[in-house]
Amino acid sequence: MFCSAMARWLAPSGVVGVDASLPMLTQAQRLNSHPAVHYLAGTAEAVPTRSDLFDLAVLSRVIHHLPDRVRVARELARILKPGGVTVIRTTFRERLDARVYDYWPRLRELDEQRFPSQPEVLEDFAAAGFTARTVTSFARPVTASLRDYHARMRSQPQSKFTQLTVAEFREGLRRLQSDAQDEPTTCPVPVTERYDIAVLSSS
Ligand SMILES: C[S@@+](CC[C@H](N)C(=O)[O-])C[C@H]1O[C@@H](n2cnc3c(N)ncnc32)[C@H](O)[C@@H]1O
Repeated sequence: MFCSAMARWLAPSGVVGVDASLPMLTQAQRLNSHPAVHYLAGTAEAVPTRSDLFDLAVLSRVIHHLPDRVRVARELARILKPGGVTVIRTTFRERLDARVYDYWPRLRELDEQRFPSQPEVLEDFAAAGFTARTVTSFARPVTASLRDYHARMRSQPQSKFTQLTVAEFREGLRRLQSDAQDEPTTCPVPVTERYDIAVLSSS
């Protein structure tokens, strides 16, 4: 979505979307194709493009999958032009905050082990020559009501739910359904999730 949005909003000469997963790339091509967007199989540790090519690199919800962040930061410094910018979209460990944790508390424990903190990420990117410009934290609406949230969790749970047992998943879903049924239909409360956006520039 970000690749096609950037192609529309920024009108660059090209956008390259890289992911390690072929099924993810197939979905991206199917749902978010654009003449200026090229999807490529590859990894953040070894981006399959030449050096000094890009003005902007965006890591969206992927930093927690990258065990060697210094290596990734060096790779982004390689493909960026001097002064190029990296944007990291994630939730830093110290600000993990989502309704899923109310119903499946073990997901919070698992995410606390997976997600890096802001100081850890900024330090690793500083080792590769990046300077942090801004870090913005905000709550983003994900559904308009708890009922909609329950419907989404029932039909499209995120991949991290595979770490739970079937019994854990069902118990959390039962409690969520009960709270959703109690929510007055006349004043639904939007469900939000916290995101952090770090902007860093390379030297
Ligand atoms: C939570 S999904 C996020 C997908 C998408 N970027 C987004 O923002 O919605 C994490 C993605 O990271 C990809 N991934 C995991 N390790 C990677 C790596 N080393 N290099 C590139 N992509 C990786 C996975 O294939 C998966 O598509």
